[in-house]
Parts: sequence; C-alpha cells; structure tokens
Amino acid sequence: MSKRAFPKPGNFVYPVPAVMVSLKGADGQKNIFTAAWTGTVCSDPPMVYVSVRKERYSHHMLTETGEFVINLPDKKLAFSTDYCGCTTGAKVDKFAACGLTPREGITVGAPSIEEAPVSIECKVTQVLELGTHDMFLAEVTAVLVDEKYIDDKDVFHMDRAGLIAYEHGAYRELGETLGRFGYSVRKKPADKKTEAKKNKSKKVIGVKKNN
Ligand SMILES: Cc1cc2nc3c(=O)[nH]c(=O)nc-3n(C[C@H](O)[C@H](O)[C@H](O)COP(=O)(O)O)c2cc1C
Repeated sequence: MSKRAFPKPGNFVYPVPAVMVSLKGADGQKNIFTAAWTGTVCSDPPMVYVSVRKERYSHHMLTETGEFVINLPDKKLAFSTDYCGCTTGAKVDKFAACGLTPREGITVGAPSIEEAPVSIECKVTQVLELGTHDMFLAEVTAVLVDEKYIDDKDVFHMDRAGLIAYEHGAYRELGETLGRFGYSVRKKPADKKTEAKKNKSKKVIGVKKNN
C-alpha cells in the first residue's frame, strides 16, 4: 500500500450518519436542519453531540431551548435530508416543504419527524465552543422507533429500516452485513462441533481409564 498525506489535515472520519435534527424555537417555530457532525459520546448516561455553526439559523433555537431531536433518515428521506441541509428555516417551513409531519416530543418541547424510523430526543447539558462549530453535548431522554421494525419478540431490527450514511459528500445506502459484534472472537459452529467431538473422545478415554 502506498499512502500519500493530504497537504492540509481535515475531516476524514467517514462514513458518518447525516441526521435530520428537528427543533423548536422559543417563539414556537419548528425547524429541521441536517447534521453530519453528530454522534454518540457516552453509553451511561446515554449522550450524544451535534456540532453546529454559530451562523446557522437553528443555532439560536438550540441555545434558547437546549432541546432537539435527532432523526435517522431512511432512503426515502435522503432527498429531504439534503434539502434541509441546503435551505434555511429563516425563509422556509421545512416540515411543510418536505411534506413531513411534526410529532410532539415525549420528553422535550422539540418535535420529532414522524416519517423517520428512529427519533432520539435530547436535552443539552453542555456547549463547547470549538472553532467554526459549537458542540452541543446532550443527554438522550427518549428514543422512538417505528413499530414495523419491532418483531413479536420485541426485538428492534434496525437493519430493516434502510438507514443511510454520508461519505465525503455523498449519501449512501448501507450494504450487506459483514459480521456482528464479537464475530471475530466467537467460536464458529464448526469449531463447536469439533470441540464436542474432542470432549466426547476425552470422556471415552476417561471411562476406559477408570475401568
Ligand atoms: C449532509 C449535510 C451535513 C451537514 N452537517 C452540518 C453539521 O454537522 N453542522 C452544521 O452546522 N451544519 C451542517 N450542515 C449545514 C446545515 O444543515 C445547513 O446550513 C442548513 O441550511 C441549516 O439550516 P437552518 O438555517 O434552518 O438552521 C450540513 C448540511 C448537509 C447537506
């Protein structure tokens, strides 16, 4: 492999999610903006972040209320995801323009997007002024998932939701499963069989010895 260094270091951690952040200003105005600089930062308490430029219209809404909802878009929402990231709530009602339904929050004043398969309600705990972006650290206060991806054993199948990723300027759909958490160290069924065989023969030897 021959790697070349970019002349200037930049943001290269990809793929990332491109999420639709829905929120409501102190005056009651609902808005949506797209964020790729977002992610998980803590398991317990469950915490996330979203980094937002000060000049974004949504910035004042976040600062005023300290509440927002991260909506994970599926393939059907890819176009709206881009649209909400290229237009401003200062001029457009993005819920109406995209034909999206605001759903009242359970734990926050911000609305979620009914059409999104997953909506994560968040309350800001800290704001870090980093440079171009302010990082809003927030605690997850509720998670809503589309019931159609929950089976009769109450298991949520996220892989069926058709979620999208964002990679260096492009929206992409996710591909095949390469493995599941821990698959690299988990014993394969074949190994289990071989082991069972070994154990069986050990037992036989043991019996013979005892006799
Ligand atoms: C794919 C994509 C990712 C984006 N990620 C961010 C981001 O992480 N932070 C940010 O401040 N703006 C981001 N933007 C830009 C805002 O979504 C955009 O400026 C939007 O128009 C702001 O809406 P508002 O003016 O209604 O607040 C992104 C845009 C796109 C299309």
